[in-house]
Amino acid sequence: AVKKRVFSGIQPTGNIHLGNYLGALRNWVNAQAEYDNIFCIVDLHAITLPIDPVELHTNTRKLAALYIACGLDTRYCKLFIQSHVREHAEMSWIMSCFTPMGWLNRMTQFKSKAAGNLDSVDTGLYCYPVLMACDVLLYQTHYVPVGDDQRQHMELTRDLAQRFNAIYKRPVFTVPEAQIREEGARIMSLTEPTKKMSKSDTDLNSRINLLDDPKTIKKKINRATTDSLRLVTFDPERPGITNLLTIYQVLTGESQQEIEAAFAGKGYGEFKAALIDRLVTTLEPIQKRYYELMNDLPTLEGILKQGADEVRPLAATTLNQVKEVVGL
Ligand code: ADP
Ligand code: NA
Repeated sequence: AVKKRVFSGIQPTGNIHLGNYLGALRNWVNAQAEYDNIFCIVDLHAITLPIDPVELHTNTRKLAALYIACGLDTRYCKLFIQSHVREHAEMSWIMSCFTPMGWLNRMTQFKSKAAGNLDSVDTGLYCYPVLMACDVLLYQTHYVPVGDDQRQHMELTRDLAQRFNAIYKRPVFTVPEAQIREEGARIMSLTEPTKKMSKSDTDLNSRINLLDDPKTIKKKINRATTDSLRLVTFDPERPGITNLLTIYQVLTGESQQEIEAAFAGKGYGEFKAALIDRLVTTLEPIQKRYYELMNDLPTLEGILKQGADEVRPLAATTLNQVKEVVGL
């Protein structure tokens, strides 16, 4: 049988963190053999907010190395840098002409990132969801594995595909589905567990980065906010401990009941020590592989060039169809 197409991406805007790993990357790796995968480093999305050029270039390579270090395998996946395939930008202009402003006005991520400062944010940030839709639609994608924060952008992607197909009465686009796992889809900040863990949080203790060393992991987990009840149980009323337990649950694959039973009568200190242990043993091999890859940048660049060369004809096929039906 022909494998279904999977597409997803991460912005090269900073160090990727445990939320990106558990909500996205880890799921890509675990399911890669079942699908025909395309994974992108979305550098065109990264310029929607101010970013230093050298940092952007470096972050892009670092993220590519992390993709591979986490286990993405070029036997199953095409890996590339978004800006290396011009079709994304070209399609984005065309599709912006099919996107009602009211739809973009409703995007909560824009509202929270712009925070009302419409004179200091650029239109790229506003049009971000259109570019994201194009990334997905260019490859006739069936499934888009993402974290919970991308739910609304994925709804817009589907609406846009359906609207375009309906206007031209032709199935130009496959209508994609978001793949949002139950566990790990929303990892929260370690210090303010009512907010999601995010690269843009100014509090550096709020997140574990995939490249954190054991000492840093230990420090951050030990400082992580809990509560005074001292019960190691999943409880939505106690988001701090529940978030740490969720991280532990995803890393170990154990059920909530098994975990609660294992820590019954034990304190937060004992649980945190077990979590630190898990995190260190999970991240150590990833980091080792990452540093090897970063020591051989020509090989990494070669993988990314090959990925772009492989996906470009797929993107061009869809873009050419779009241009034809539109009359361009
Ligand atoms: P960030 O939101 O940290 O800037 P991106 O926007 O590049 O990261 O998102 C990359 C992927 O990581 C997306 O699939 C997104 O849904 C997922 N993701 C981001 N933050 C979290 C989180 N706190 N928990 C789970 N998944 C997340
Ligand atoms: Na995000």
